[in-house]
Amino acid sequence: MPSSAPLDFNDRMLSLGLARVSEKAALASARLIGHGDEKAADQAAVDAMRTELNRLDIRGVVVIGEGERDEAPMLYIGEEVGSGDGPAVDIALDPLEGTTLTAKDMPNALAVIAMGPRGSMLHAPDVYMEKLAIGPGYPEGIVTLDMPPAERVRQLAREKGGDPNDITVCILERPRHEALIAEVRSTGAAIRLITDGDVAGVMHCAEAERTGIDMYMGSGGAPEGVLAAAALKCMGGQMFGQLLFRNDDERGRAAKHGVTDLGRVYSRDDMVTADVIFAATGVTDGSLLPGIKREVGWLTAETLLMRSKTGSVRRMRYRTPAE
Ligand code: FBP
Repeated sequence: MPSSAPLDFNDRMLSLGLARVSEKAALASARLIGHGDEKAADQAAVDAMRTELNRLDIRGVVVIGEGERDEAPMLYIGEEVGSGDGPAVDIALDPLEGTTLTAKDMPNALAVIAMGPRGSMLHAPDVYMEKLAIGPGYPEGIVTLDMPPAERVRQLAREKGGDPNDITVCILERPRHEALIAEVRSTGAAIRLITDGDVAGVMHCAEAERTGIDMYMGSGGAPEGVLAAAALKCMGGQMFGQLLFRNDDERGRAAKHGVTDLGRVYSRDDMVTADVIFAATGVTDGSLLPGIKREVGWLTAETLLMRSKTGSVRRMRYRTPAE
């Protein structure tokens, strides 16, 4: 039977469906917040996200997912999702960004998903990526990955009309970032250290008045880098990423994903080349989104739903009977 579904990527019509997908993932992991079991929380979110995603009328392929086909049972890279009837789309997802944050009931765990037309997102291998991000309103290229970290702080401070004391940088707290942290502190800038969750870390830059974060720096997962680029494409702001390889196995993974220039610095729009839609639902309370609220018999979730084509940012609250 010929399909009656539109074959173009109709971002407007699909956006509410995408919000439902991230809502369902966040709600499914909610009962595991603070229970110390990362794996169970992640699995619950993955199962729920997959079920809801398969309800959408799309021919979707997961390009950023839960891992390689042979490692991850569900929502692996290359998995086909959706009803199979509708536009061909790329999907980047992380059903639970911040598994440890969820297990420990710490701030800023999110369920996240982005969708764009087929071929619109970088097929990033599961390696580290050096990341740099700032919010909207600054001239293009005011900070770059080539600049030493202290110089980035000074440049941004100048452009903001202040000095480095007026800048707060968000960085993942890791031993590998010790030198970076020392250099940034030497400028007089403040650092918000986070233990996990750099998609949220990057997104914080786009809402600096709300979050108090001006810039994100440091290395984290490359898949999370593409998700963050999709978010910033909707919210505004600049982001740069460079893949980091620790061994030949990781270089091999990049080749498998079609990455040929291993040293390339990707801008936000190199990582996400066409207009996308993005949804994030808060799992634990954070500075961008409240987490799932539990009342006897009820669950409430808040979702940020965004379209890069229009720059629209919606905050949607969803209340549902607890199952
Ligand atoms: P999970 O949700 O899979 O636990 O990942 C969280 C995270 O903090 C990401 O946000 C970040 O990109 C990555 O892990 C950092 O990796 P590492 O813990 O190896 O420094």
